[in-house]
Amino acid sequence: VTQNPQQPEVNIGLVGHVDHGKTTLVQALSGSWTDQHSEEMKRGISIRLGYADATFRRIPGADEPECYTVEETDEEGNETEILRTVSFVDAPGHETLMATMLSGAAIMDGAVLVVSATEDVPQAQTEEHLMALDIIGIENIVIAQNKVDLVDRDRAVENYEQIQEFVKGTVAEDAPIVPTSAQQGVNVDLLIQTIEEEIPTPERDEGEDARMFTARSFDINRPGTTWEDLSGGVIGGSVVDGKLSDGDELELRPGREVDEGGQTEWRPITTEIRSLQAGGQTVDEVRPGGLCGVGTGLDPSLTKGDALAGQVAGEPGTLPPTREEFTMDVELLDRVVGEDEDSVEEISTGEPLMLTVGTATTVGAVTSARSGEAEVSLKRPVCAQEGAKIAINRRVGARWRLIGIGTLK
Ligand code: GTP
Repeated sequence: VTQNPQQPEVNIGLVGHVDHGKTTLVQALSGSWTDQHSEEMKRGISIRLGYADATFRRIPGADEPECYTVEETDEEGNETEILRTVSFVDAPGHETLMATMLSGAAIMDGAVLVVSATEDVPQAQTEEHLMALDIIGIENIVIAQNKVDLVDRDRAVENYEQIQEFVKGTVAEDAPIVPTSAQQGVNVDLLIQTIEEEIPTPERDEGEDARMFTARSFDINRPGTTWEDLSGGVIGGSVVDGKLSDGDELELRPGREVDEGGQTEWRPITTEIRSLQAGGQTVDEVRPGGLCGVGTGLDPSLTKGDALAGQVAGEPGTLPPTREEFTMDVELLDRVVGEDEDSVEEISTGEPLMLTVGTATTVGAVTSARSGEAEVSLKRPVCAQEGAKIAINRRVGARWRLIGIGTLK
């Protein structure tokens, strides 16, 4: 089992159209994709938001870009120098998983947009994912023009120009485009170099209140485990501010719904941290970067089956409020992504919207709509602070389509 020598310090999203090669590229960049995590983590987080950690290294004295590698030794057996450990969040490209991609975007510090050279640009999710990066405000982007081994030179050039044309006027306008073959391992070194240059580790303030976005939650006990041997519930996600330490008290919001005399109400959950996992190992503390697993003192029935996905965790008393309704400033897209002709109509009172806030996805009914502003009442509340970005989706035909971005008031 490969272990990374350090905790990851930055989260890099892998986004793009289905089958363009995101998973293969992560494999090429991380060496071993599956063996880095304990069973618990593998069963847990990687299923929905696939992820893998990679340690980028440099061969001392070698030229760029050949010096960039993920190998621990060079061809002569000399040790390579560690640059940093990064965590890849491999968002699924399938169209119905847009909400998952958006929740992933909440924890990305930068992204690699994978575009296959074998198809015209843009394919539906290429466009939709880029739009999502744009509205969530992810500016550090590298484009991998993948599968170049399958096309001839002319086609590669034509495709390259299509990509340039497509990103004009978007957040990826100045993003470098690196031709790659994930499958053949072509230009992996250049891609590492470009990521090192374009996606820096954000500056973090250690003194800030700890904040974790939960992307998954699970019950790690095998069926039939007796209560004496039962492990507490596990939550998986990413620390975005401050740090979590083993033994800390933890509050989760919105928490859980309790029914009292016919009245239902959401109450925060409090527990303590009993174990922490990051970068494939058990650790004493977790800082921002990468995904982590937190073993808690919670009854595993509470964490089973992602029941706590979308919650926010931190020190008791420091979390933002739980909101069952809110008002947001709305900025609509010019047209519905992926639907060539359709322009986006104003939001109307009474219509249902799917909203992604942090890693939480919830459906809300619009209770009042004015130009540039909407008030929504949520089926499931969210924990979010003023100024939080909200991805707004409307049902168009059989599926939810991204129509704009909101800012919580
Ligand atoms: P989803 O996770 O389903 O969105 O797909 P993905 O984007 O992760 O694509 P994946 O990595 O699964 O690759 C899809 C197919 O393309 C697989 O059969 C890969 O082996 C193949 N593939 C990926 N990259 C390359 C490449 O650079 N060259 C060639 N020839 N095939 C590739």
